Amino acid sequence: MKIGPLQLETPLLLAPIAGHCDLTFRMLCREQGGVGLASTDLLNSRAILMGARRTLELAATNEHDSPCGMQLYGNSEDPLPEAACWAIDHGAKLIDINMGCPVDKVAKKHGGSLLLRDCLSTMRLTERIVDAVRAHSGGTIPVTAKMRLGWDPEHFVAPQLARDLESIGVQAVTVHGRWTVQFFSGKADWGRIGEVVRAVQIPVIGNGDVTEPEHVVDLMRATGCAGVMVGRGALRTPWIFRRAAALLATGVVSEEPSLLEKCQVVARHIELLQRYAPCERHALHAMRARIAWYGKTMGPIKPLKESIRLAESLESMATATENWIQQLDQGVVHQSSSAILTQL
Ligand SMILES: Cc1cc2nc3c(=O)[nH]c(=O)nc-3n(C[C@H](O)[C@H](O)[C@H](O)COP(=O)(O)O)c2cc1C
Repeated sequence: MKIGPLQLETPLLLAPIAGHCDLTFRMLCREQGGVGLASTDLLNSRAILMGARRTLELAATNEHDSPCGMQLYGNSEDPLPEAACWAIDHGAKLIDINMGCPVDKVAKKHGGSLLLRDCLSTMRLTERIVDAVRAHSGGTIPVTAKMRLGWDPEHFVAPQLARDLESIGVQAVTVHGRWTVQFFSGKADWGRIGEVVRAVQIPVIGNGDVTEPEHVVDLMRATGCAGVMVGRGALRTPWIFRRAAALLATGVVSEEPSLLEKCQVVARHIELLQRYAPCERHALHAMRARIAWYGKTMGPIKPLKESIRLAESLESMATATENWIQQLDQGVVHQSSSAILTQL
């Protein structure tokens, strides 16, 4: 899959998920294989230019995190073109404009889904961003937009908006098949994503409710989309991209990783946090939240979850996970047995 000049190794994208898809998680997913593109979580354009510490941490990328998109949000009053140029200077290989965030803090005044309500002004804003990015990068960096279907079912703006964005130089759109008013409830409407695909020539990336490798194929077949973005599914199973890429390449579904391999992924995530997280407090918070997601596919690992939730340092999280891995390796605990869990 190609987005403007940017060739992706696979048509599989890790979604931005604020609070989760930071540098370490993007690196983890990439190491697992199959990721064509990953992007930062949404970044406030003003905060970037003011050098706000937390926003700069969220914008961090490195050579193991490539190609990396940076996702910006803001409205017509905000310095989005300038923030896009900043992002290019700080490692972005693609600039994505958030047109889908439904959260009040963003959508009530700053941008996100608000941009779906006044498409004319969104077009003017995007045109300024596209022009700035083209001039700043010499045409090497594509601009994309990530949108929902529309604010509500009475306003299915995505096909026309995608067509208009294409006409001013946007090089791909991602469509999350829900309305803003739905937040994350109900099911993503893949049929309507297909309507957007048919409205434009540029690649459309389908998104919503892909949690298994087979869903990637199903979504591509149902919509004709060129790529698939996975969000919450990847929080549980960061190896989903590897399995989906193999399925696309061979038509065969590969084995799910074993419990031991899944625990090794948890250990690796902690290790990446130890090396790359800018702040231990945030990293601890992130891992405590994340183990609940990982745990959903790992069977009876309650003691491991408890140790991670109660750990007061990344070091003790790492130790608890290593102990658990050793027990698994030695066959002291089994995937299906919780009998000796108390030994930990
Ligand atoms: C907690 C949370 C935070 C999110 N943050 C962002 C974000 O920063 N930028 C964005 O474009 N979408 C964001 N999303 C939406 C996801 O990128 C994705 O469109 C949505 O979760 C549907 O895909 P999925 O079913 O694969 O998760 C967020 C979703 C969740 C649940």
